[in-house]
Amino acid sequence: MSDLDSALAAAAADVERLMDVVLPTTGDAEAPLIDAMRYASLGGGKRLRAFLAIQSARLFGVDARCAIRVAAAIEFMHAYSLIHDDLPAMDDSDLRRGRPSCHKAFDEATAILAGDALQSLAFEILTDEGTHERTGVRLQLVRDLAHAVGAGGMAGGQMIDMIGENTALDIGAITRLQRMKTGELFAFSAGAGATLGQAGPRARAALHGFAQEFGLAFQITDDLLDVVGDADTTGKPVGLDAAAGKATFVTILGVERAAEQAGLLVDQAVHALDIFDETADFLRALARRLVDRVN
Ligand code: IPE
Ligand code: IPE
Ligand code: MG
Ligand code: MG
Ligand code: MG
Repeated sequence: MSDLDSALAAAAADVERLMDVVLPTTGDAEAPLIDAMRYASLGGGKRLRAFLAIQSARLFGVDARCAIRVAAAIEFMHAYSLIHDDLPAMDDSDLRRGRPSCHKAFDEATAILAGDALQSLAFEILTDEGTHERTGVRLQLVRDLAHAVGAGGMAGGQMIDMIGENTALDIGAITRLQRMKTGELFAFSAGAGATLGQAGPRARAALHGFAQEFGLAFQITDDLLDVVGDADTTGKPVGLDAAAGKATFVTILGVERAAEQAGLLVDQAVHALDIFDETADFLRALARRLVDRVN
């Protein structure tokens, strides 16, 4: 196992442990909701956003317990986005993380509610004093996350993504949609460490630049995997984007040039971290790995 793999596994285990604790099962009447929330958020996923938050916090000497709390909030938020993304009204995808999507394992109403409640849970975690002793820091985390997933971020990007099934989008429009639907949550994740560590504008800007390029490269490679990947490895169906007629970097540039573009973005992401010392090496290594990821 490489050092990066060990660090990824450790971060995933840390965040999973906390998520399991803050979302206990219940014997009350709403149990199916909690079960669906746990089903969709625990026991899977690469936990890349959690890793970015934990690693960015390390740059500023932040208490790991605070970073893990933010990481858990992010992963709950991300799980919500995946549940809703898979719904029949959206991507209509039956497989997620190698098992039936939430609405298949439960039903649509339960899946919608599980997404709603996971989103709320994410904010609840951020507002807890255990996340940071300073109210102002907690408030900034809440505001930044709200922005990242709202109309100017993920939800807005998802809207354009759906419009892109029936309307031709040019490369500029696709870039914007992908920065919104995927890049903003990555940017929040990498920026969270700077917020927790109350870092200065130069460090914040560097992490923001890193995460924007990282997020875009990540979404391009996700779109590539929909074309050249296989479901056993990715844990989700392939060919869904093409079947839905979605506009992506791959439909516009083709496989090779989209891959080239991802490579250029990764170079830019790594370059954005130049102001940091070797403490940022895991972030650099993770970005470099994006270009040949298989899941
Ligand atoms: C999938 O994200 C959704 C996209 C933004 C493409 P991930 O590929 O990070 O999903 P998990 O968390 O590892 O399942
Ligand atoms: C989804 O993008 C991004 C989200 C905001 C959830 P995709 O629709 O490409 O993600 P996958 O391929 O289903 O994971
Ligand atoms: Mg989608
Ligand atoms: Mg999808
Ligand atoms: Mg996809």
